[in-house]
Amino acid sequence: AIGPVTDLTISNADVSPDGFTRAAVLANGVFPGPLITGNKGDNFQINVVDNLSNETMLKSTSIHWHGFFQKGTNWADGAAFVNQCPIATGNSFLYDFTATDQAGTFWYHSHLSTQYCDGLRGPMVVYDPSDPHADLYDVDDETTIITLSDWYHTAASLGAAFPVGSDSTLINRLGRFAGGDSTDLAVITVDQGKRYRMRLLSLSCYPNYVFSIDGHNMTIIEADAVNHEPLTVDSIQIYSGQRYSFVLTADQDIDNYFIRALPSAGTTSFDGGINSAILRYSGASEVDPTTTETTSVLPLDEANLVPLDSPAAPGDPNIGGVDYALNLDFNFGGTNFFINDVSFVSPTVPVLLQILSGTTSAADLLPSGSLFALPSSSTIEISFPITATNAPGAPHPFHLHGHTFSIVRTAGSTDTNFVNPVRRDVVNTGTAGDNVTIRFTTDNPGPWFLHCHIDFHLEAGFAIVFSEDTADVSNATTPSTAWEDPCPTYNALDSSD
Ligand code: C2O
Repeated sequence: AIGPVTDLTISNADVSPDGFTRAAVLANGVFPGPLITGNKGDNFQINVVDNLSNETMLKSTSIHWHGFFQKGTNWADGAAFVNQCPIATGNSFLYDFTATDQAGTFWYHSHLSTQYCDGLRGPMVVYDPSDPHADLYDVDDETTIITLSDWYHTAASLGAAFPVGSDSTLINRLGRFAGGDSTDLAVITVDQGKRYRMRLLSLSCYPNYVFSIDGHNMTIIEADAVNHEPLTVDSIQIYSGQRYSFVLTADQDIDNYFIRALPSAGTTSFDGGINSAILRYSGASEVDPTTTETTSVLPLDEANLVPLDSPAAPGDPNIGGVDYALNLDFNFGGTNFFINDVSFVSPTVPVLLQILSGTTSAADLLPSGSLFALPSSSTIEISFPITATNAPGAPHPFHLHGHTFSIVRTAGSTDTNFVNPVRRDVVNTGTAGDNVTIRFTTDNPGPWFLHCHIDFHLEAGFAIVFSEDTADVSNATTPSTAWEDPCPTYNALDSSD
């Protein structure tokens, strides 16, 4: 792991995580990128150095630190054309932000086009020295990270909203593909009798995964860097961008057990260790497991997750406390997704730069139709009604930058919960008939992306931008680096440009 003050060098090189060799976009030479860690309250200073040379996978980049609120540092949020110009090859950009009052499991990824599908994605953990759940696991073993990545044998093709499924599912840095060799699988070693806090991250570009560990239950204690009351499950359906911490007790025989991540699209066969990794007890022989999958009887229903602190949703509908409610109507036509009839197209000048250059009326911000002004210090309610035809490729996981939100109506439910709803930063918006509803408080001035975290769908316009408290942004936000206006062309820059 690398600490909060670090260089992160982005380059192209060949990798073969599943035995098939292809060019990729790497952070510090590896895919997924290195684990970046810090403690609650730490100042992160991550100097991103762009050494990219492959035009197909873009020579520019921009990195989003997924889950960090970036209070007062909206310029460091990393969404290209919302918060900054892309970093051109041969240049570096210092992201400088503080994990104020935040701890838990985060990740980072390219937020330029579909570049993270080609490798630029990695885990981040912010430890809390006074973690309220610390008594549930043995403190010497809080280090287990389990990343799930969809992996493709060809570079992500720009503009394809529905790619053919992934070739392999990688758990940490390893996986196997159908027809491939029995290459190494990731091994997570445990000592019999100990309790582990394990962190599960979906770095997916596309599929969701049903995750389970043969013979073991998992007690969830965190969702998307929000502590929750312990909830014991035997499988977790995890959507792109989501994270969980769970406690696993190594209370079975000394042996090998399959860890399974079954994707919703792509290589669905389990044969020969595809979509899997190994939980190995110390003392077990170094062989593939022979365990079989059992039917899940305790799947995660996120409606059962209860935040540990101040669990109520913002606002109180019984007193008319909702200040601003927005219905997002989805649609798909041609090759693009639409929200309230508009497909998102990146502006040539980043939204933040428009504001800092003097556009203080949200109505004048571009791209018009995709920009929604939000008042300060208010409860915002957003609903995502799904019909049989308005959202092909559902379920769509929606991520809001700069905030966590309370999910007052979850997918698959017709009930609302304002008392103690799950709180996180990526919501599964469900399938036909669902009307998932979230609430959050505007306490963070700046332009913030809201988008489907299926990266191919974001590229196909499935996004809007909230301009929160626009008039205050120029005071609250100071970029560390001046940008060109408009941004340089990002698709094929030479280092001489
Ligand atoms: Cu992890 Cu805008 O995304």
